[in-house]
Amino acid sequence: MSERVPLMAGNWKMHKTLAQARELAQGVSEAAQAAEGVEVMIAPPFTAIHAAAQAVAGGPVMLGAQNVYPAGQGSFTGEICADLLADLGVTYVIIGHSERRWILGEDDSFIRDKAAAVIKAGLRPVLCVGESLEEREAGRTAEVVQGQLAAGLEGFQAGECADLVMAYEPIWAIGTGRTASPETAQECHADIRSWLADRFNISLANSLRILYGGSVNGGNVKDLMAQPDVDGALVGGASLTVEDFSAIVRFRN
Ligand code: PGA
Repeated sequence: MSERVPLMAGNWKMHKTLAQARELAQGVSEAAQAAEGVEVMIAPPFTAIHAAAQAVAGGPVMLGAQNVYPAGQGSFTGEICADLLADLGVTYVIIGHSERRWILGEDDSFIRDKAAAVIKAGLRPVLCVGESLEEREAGRTAEVVQGQLAAGLEGFQAGECADLVMAYEPIWAIGTGRTASPETAQECHADIRSWLADRFNISLANSLRILYGGSVNGGNVKDLMAQPDVDGALVGGASLTVEDFSAIVRFRN
């Protein structure tokens, strides 16, 4: 049995006005207060982080950001650095999401710099990795994921990675309704853990949470969470309503 506390993380992507964000954050906060033994995080768009922070204040919900720029405060028009996120009450920062890799053109070394900036600011990176359908069908899943891990964590010492969270998000499963089977998810999560054990050490690998992301919903979360190496979920579409996300937060019921 794992001692890792499951983390259910809602990635709101580019959704929610201030009023909508307050309402959703409030609802998630109530659901999180009623759930035991699970950590809950929401990552609103930057524009709504402060409103969401006020809505969840005093409750158990942690705040995440969907992006960060890897520098200190300075002349980077349009960007947000880790110190400013910490000042908002953010704890987690999602890094390496496939939408940023493929739509915004972020490469592994930029992602690595972001992870370093997040750790330096005392925040926790949620590092996303995952293969495309083409790569999976070509039998290249392990090679692609390991390449992303190696590059995204290049130069890091074990001691710097205690608060790292991994997220395995196969691109073909994101927003498609096509979830990875629990067995497929488990196989990739076990591979990631074993890679982390080789790269760092077994004790760190066993302590780090590996989230699954890709069309997670209230109907499939229980079977995914039954896998020994699945330690939570990074949820997009089903994090956008209180009802859907509550069903995920309460996966044990
Ligand atoms: P989805 O998105 O749950 O809508 O598939 C997951 C993600 O992109 O993190």
